[in-house]
Amino acid sequence: MGKAMRATRRPAREGRRVKVGQVGAVPPGRGATVQLKSGAEVALFNVDGEYYAVENFCPHKGFPLADSRLYGNIVECDLHGWRFDVRSGECFTKKSCPIETFTVVVEDGWIYLEI
Ligand code: FES
Repeated sequence: MGKAMRATRRPAREGRRVKVGQVGAVPPGRGATVQLKSGAEVALFNVDGEYYAVENFCPHKGFPLADSRLYGNIVECDLHGWRFDVRSGECFTKKSCPIETFTVVVEDGWIYLEI
């Protein structure tokens, strides 16, 4: 996957709130892919009942982080093992490669993303 393709699939900041699903749709310790109308994708994670969202594609070679394994608040890319903090976007494998994070709001049983 080329850099340009990854860039177009990273969500643009639109300054709006998007309803993505009901609380409980993503079990604790798991991730889910959120496909936005623009075609961009966000990885949504449930860390012990708290939801966090990051751009979906690993900055290394573009593997989807939503399909990777979560260890507490750390997602480890399934392809080559790069590790990221889903709360801050920090990359532990290569400090210069953080991922974007998105604010998640839970209201009246629904999960919203601020894009
Ligand atoms: S694609 Fe994620 S670590 Fe290589």
